[in-house]
Amino acid sequence: MKEQHPSGLSEGGGEQSKERFSSYGFILAAIGSAVGLGNMWKFPYITGLYGGAAFFLLFTICLLLVGLPVLLAELAVGRGGRGNPSTSLIRLSGSKLWGRLGFITILGPFVILSFYAVVAGWTMHYAVLSFTGKLFESGDYTGLFTNFIGSWLPVFWQFIVMLLTGFIIMLGVSAGIERFNKILIPGLVILLLVLVVRALTLEGAGEGVAFFLRPDFSKLTAESALVALGHAFFSLSLGMGAMITYGAYVDKRQSLGGATLAIGLGDLLYAFLAGLIIFPTTFVFDLEASQGPGLVFVALPAAFSAMPLGAFFGGLFFVLLAFAALTSAVSLLEVPVAFVREVLGWSRPFAVVLVSAACFLIGVPSALSLGGDGSGLNFGGKSLFDWVDFICSNIVLPLSGLIITLFVGYAWKGAAEEAGLTVWWFRVWMFMIRFVAPVLVLLVFLYSAGLISF
Ligand code: PHE
Repeated sequence: MKEQHPSGLSEGGGEQSKERFSSYGFILAAIGSAVGLGNMWKFPYITGLYGGAAFFLLFTICLLLVGLPVLLAELAVGRGGRGNPSTSLIRLSGSKLWGRLGFITILGPFVILSFYAVVAGWTMHYAVLSFTGKLFESGDYTGLFTNFIGSWLPVFWQFIVMLLTGFIIMLGVSAGIERFNKILIPGLVILLLVLVVRALTLEGAGEGVAFFLRPDFSKLTAESALVALGHAFFSLSLGMGAMITYGAYVDKRQSLGGATLAIGLGDLLYAFLAGLIIFPTTFVFDLEASQGPGLVFVALPAAFSAMPLGAFFGGLFFVLLAFAALTSAVSLLEVPVAFVREVLGWSRPFAVVLVSAACFLIGVPSALSLGGDGSGLNFGGKSLFDWVDFICSNIVLPLSGLIITLFVGYAWKGAAEEAGLTVWWFRVWMFMIRFVAPVLVLLVFLYSAGLISF
């Protein structure tokens, strides 16, 4: 394969502008990006926290009304600009200012991956613990989890995650990202269905299902709406440049509207099925669904220990999480890799090694800040790990979402052509992108940054 000189900021050129997904491969890769730790680790505990079914309904509305239009906008920018987010914005607008704004979309995924890989590593460690039965030896799940995250072991697993992610990206778009998603996503679906059947056939599962599906509208608050919107963004991988970068590898003939719908529905269905696993399981075993990030690593092991073949199902559950996390990590790493290849002219292997190593290193303090040797890294009551998550999810993500909506809504003339919608759908889309999405995203940002409260 000939590695060409970087394209700089001109149209075309550059090896990466020729890399392409197949149409089916693109949908799988984008679903792989969307479906991740967000769906299984974050979604259940915030749903538990904000009232179950009512929150799920809000999340669905946010995802359909705001998430999908922004997703289409990101895919269109990527395919139109044929580059990393920053370069694409410059190409489409002809202005360097947009490229500078787009730069935050490059930094975001790099930083988020540094801690995302840490949690992905936890899931791998727990898969091993569960299959070997070690998870259930002491019966003290809180103690086990606290000891684990307080040790250096998470750094080892974080390293493994970065190694695997880097390896896949190194193979390229179609031989790496696409092929790997084609293997993992069907595996993911099978695991998911096995676990849904397991959870729904537990005795007394109905109460958990009811909590998840019977909305209590008195629980709806402005705060829960903003959390739902923020999560819809995170869950669809928006505001992190991932969908723009994947969009750059999409064939011109593919329908972006159809792809947007497939990705959105895939993500929603996955969140729904994840709820059908988590809520019956927590209810049957009398565990607190709203207990926070520890839900998956503390409450669920207790549940698995008490069910027949629990070690096996527990192992499958953590493998499922690890698969989902890897396909998302791949999409996060591809963003900065595409950027340095394009702007600095590095070859893919060189870019992958350097970016992965840097990402691993900046993640180590996060990994150690939860009770380990880095627990001194605590500011204002939050560990470094929590700060990185907070800043990326609540500040960087809505901010870059805002930049994209303003760009597509007001600055880019070619949006209609690239999106390829019918006149009527285009009007609906533009209305959402121009007027609804920016206002709501701004509200999420102001709220998350603590500048407004309810
Ligand atoms: N959507 C992923 C999840 O739900 C996280 C992610 C965010 C991945 C942004 C890529 C970009 O876990």
